[in-house]
Amino acid sequence: MLWEDKAILFSILLVYSSSQVLGEVQEDGQCAELNSTRWQEYRQQRVREEVQYLLLTRNNPDCAQKFDQDSVGKPTSYFNTSRPTKVIIHGFSALGRKPSWVTDLARALLEAQDANVVVVDWIYGASFAYNLVVENYKEVALQISVLVNQLQQKHGCGLESFHLIGVSLGAHVAGFVGTVFEGKIGRITGLDPAGPMFKGADTYDRLDPTDALFVDAIHTDSDHFGISIPVGHVDFFLNGGMDQTGCARSRFASMYGYVICDHMRALHVYMSALNGTCQLMGIPCASYEDFLKGSCVDCGVFKGRCPAVGLQEKSGTATSPIPEQQKVFLLTTSSAPFCAHHILVTLEVSPLDKSAEVEVTLTTWSQGTEHRFRLKPEATVYRRVLAHPVALCLIDSIRLKNTGARLYRQGDVHVKSVCVSELPLHRHEAPLCVNDIDIRRGVPWSHDFVQVCGTS
Ligand SMILES: *[C@@H]1O[C@H](CO)[C@@H](O)[C@H](O)[C@H]1NC(C)=O
Ligand SMILES: *[C@@H]1O[C@H](CO)[C@@H](O)[C@H](O)[C@H]1NC(C)=O
Ligand SMILES: *[C@@H]1O[C@H](CO)[C@@H](O)[C@H](O)[C@H]1NC(C)=O
Repeated sequence: MLWEDKAILFSILLVYSSSQVLGEVQEDGQCAELNSTRWQEYRQQRVREEVQYLLLTRNNPDCAQKFDQDSVGKPTSYFNTSRPTKVIIHGFSALGRKPSWVTDLARALLEAQDANVVVVDWIYGASFAYNLVVENYKEVALQISVLVNQLQQKHGCGLESFHLIGVSLGAHVAGFVGTVFEGKIGRITGLDPAGPMFKGADTYDRLDPTDALFVDAIHTDSDHFGISIPVGHVDFFLNGGMDQTGCARSRFASMYGYVICDHMRALHVYMSALNGTCQLMGIPCASYEDFLKGSCVDCGVFKGRCPAVGLQEKSGTATSPIPEQQKVFLLTTSSAPFCAHHILVTLEVSPLDKSAEVEVTLTTWSQGTEHRFRLKPEATVYRRVLAHPVALCLIDSIRLKNTGARLYRQGDVHVKSVCVSELPLHRHEAPLCVNDIDIRRGVPWSHDFVQVCGTS
């Protein structure tokens, strides 16, 4: 950042700090709520930059307390300066409605960690016209910066104890707060950071790895509302980061399913990961295509420990310094808890003289996962990563079917071997293989695995 910019930021910070922009605390014992705004109101009052803060802790998980810098230290405040602080920042709201997921996210965070959860309510700045909202987001970031600055200066809360969690446009708000504090904030998590008007933006204007000591992001809709480029130290691309399983694309789907299901999936997966039911681990790879083709199979760049979605420090990785802008890929199921096991299928066939197609199905408790391999004369080895609901050791059977019969003139296919293994690969684990199989047209072949889940 240029020093002129920095000087401007800090003088703005000072001006705000000395004025009373944040309002008074409610002390009547009522629960505070997020605001909503209507178009009429919004147009008449022009209260665009009005920001309020709500505080939730383990002592008041269901009844938010209005919060500002002056409430800290008062006997009625639940804010505890010795605990870490999570700051939730919502994004754009087309209709001016309060984001209903905020309390769910706050509750999930509180269950996972004894922290102060501060919700930033900037619905007046975030509503209606997206391009105007994009003009407002830095203003909101500056107001948040004032609050953080006060908590640091007056109440001794270390900058590293702050974790900003921004949804969509909120991720860039968090990024700008990080810019103001020159990257000394502890952590920023972006949940499908907004793409429109940000993809080509300078790192000063959008979330990037220099905004905090650790920045992680989850991408679920990078072809519409989300950003397609990596913005953190670790970027999780779910199912390639564009289209999510279970988010219908049909004309008949609900408005939700059609418009924002993919975008909001990052949030739902994050909340589910906080629950800790199962691990959502990403495999480092250059592209989704390479990942699906089985070109990336281990956690090498992270010294053997791949990052997982959730609150673990540095996403659970062991490396220091953390690699910057590392894309990691994972497949998910279509509903909570979303975790899938990454099963690598490797098929080796004898050379063919015509194209063919073979369908591979893995089955566990009658749940099948399948993939059709298009076989060509010029290649004999095919690999594909599939999302299976359970671990490798619970796969009951594998079935191969010669499905090319209708499409191609290929006759029998000779399979030299078909192997399955689970990612990330570990050196001591051998894949499960079956060798030397002839699959004839119309005659499916299958093999039952007799295995137990070991303790390794
Ligand atoms: C927003 O909601 C709070 C209640 O939590 C209320 O006190 C405040 O007046 C509202 N702000 C506006 C501008 O309506
Ligand atoms: C504040 O948090 C610390 C650390 O978790 C704890 O020891 C202390 O009792 C808390 N104070 C209050 C008033 O709850
Ligand atoms: C978290 O887990 C509980 C059960 O342990 C479940 O009732 C709840 O729906 C889960 N929440 C999410 C967001 O997955």
